Amino acid sequence: MSQTQGDEEETGYLLIAKLESSGISATDIKKLKEGGFFTVESVAYATKRALLNIKGISETKADRILAEAAKIVNLGFTTAMDVHLRRQEIVTITTGSTELDRILGGGIETGSITELFGEFRTGKSQLCHTLAVTAQLPVSMGGGEGKCLFIDTEATFRPSRILSIANKYSLNGEETLDNIAYARAYNTDHQMSLLIQAAAMMSEARFSILIVDSAMALYRTDFSGRGELAARQMHLAQFLRQLQRLADEFGVAVVITNQVVAQVDGGASMFNPDPKKPAGGNIIAHASCTRLQLRKGRGENRICKIYDSPSLAESECTFAILEDGISDAVE
Ligand SMILES: Nc1ncnc2c1ncn2[C@@H]1O[C@H](COP(=O)(O)OP(=O)(O)OP(=O)(O)O)[C@@H](O)[C@H]1O
Ligand SMILES: [Mg+2]
Repeated sequence: MSQTQGDEEETGYLLIAKLESSGISATDIKKLKEGGFFTVESVAYATKRALLNIKGISETKADRILAEAAKIVNLGFTTAMDVHLRRQEIVTITTGSTELDRILGGGIETGSITELFGEFRTGKSQLCHTLAVTAQLPVSMGGGEGKCLFIDTEATFRPSRILSIANKYSLNGEETLDNIAYARAYNTDHQMSLLIQAAAMMSEARFSILIVDSAMALYRTDFSGRGELAARQMHLAQFLRQLQRLADEFGVAVVITNQVVAQVDGGASMFNPDPKKPAGGNIIAHASCTRLQLRKGRGENRICKIYDSPSLAESECTFAILEDGISDAVE
């Protein structure tokens, strides 16, 4: 069995090399890879314009590639029953808290974007650390059986936290750290380019989660002027679209955090008129599938509310942040 077929059975996507058997040249496949396309799905879902942006891909070639990809990937209608059966197979990743998993219908869903928003110290980053570990667990233990990709924009990632959490799940600490691909993002362009590398890595090994903590922080600093709002929203929309693409293509859970800033001066913020609502406005709201609002409870307890979801009720629950990660609430 060829490598490509093996990968398809295990992961549900096809490596771009598969297009060679459809008559696309190895040189063109190399160009596609350089342009950030690593799977047949990524090409099939792309616009013609996106392919034309790649150096060396002419109009004729783009048409040809799109036509061949469309022969392999189903882009048409399917039955609701098919969708239903596929949704039943969706793997969820445990948060570490029984109650939170319960209201989420098992945990964080793979194949879509979940946004965690809340004020500082509400546990967004702590939940990310826990998920970086639980994503590696076998499915039978509530895991995603894959590696974790962690993009850190605020330098708040702490390997020591990972070790404590891994210990709780009886995982080998060093292996757990090795299975987390970590990158610090320094600006919004860099944050975007890391996603191209992410796609390449995901086509080579099995990842089950991609975390961006925090997705918005660099946008605040890179586009801080009043006149830059439109440019910021456009850049952010592209970033989120790329995240969605990775979720669709590789079936990874995408988790992004977003800090809600309380207004010190009481005035309306230029980006965020309602300080109790997450920053990023409608752009993030539309891109995120499940939106979870975190707030402080008593002591180490935190409250999570399902703020928006296509299929979950608007319920809330309490969990705790402990030394070994997110856990059940403490009385
Ligand atoms: N080892 C630990 N054991 C128990 N609690 C911890 C530990 N490390 C951090 N915490 C708690 O986690 C909380 C911080 O949570 P976290 O860093 O996830 O906040 P955040 O929502 O990401 O905030 P920000 O918006 O500032 O990034 C603090 O209340 C801190 O006490
Ligand atoms: Mg944080």
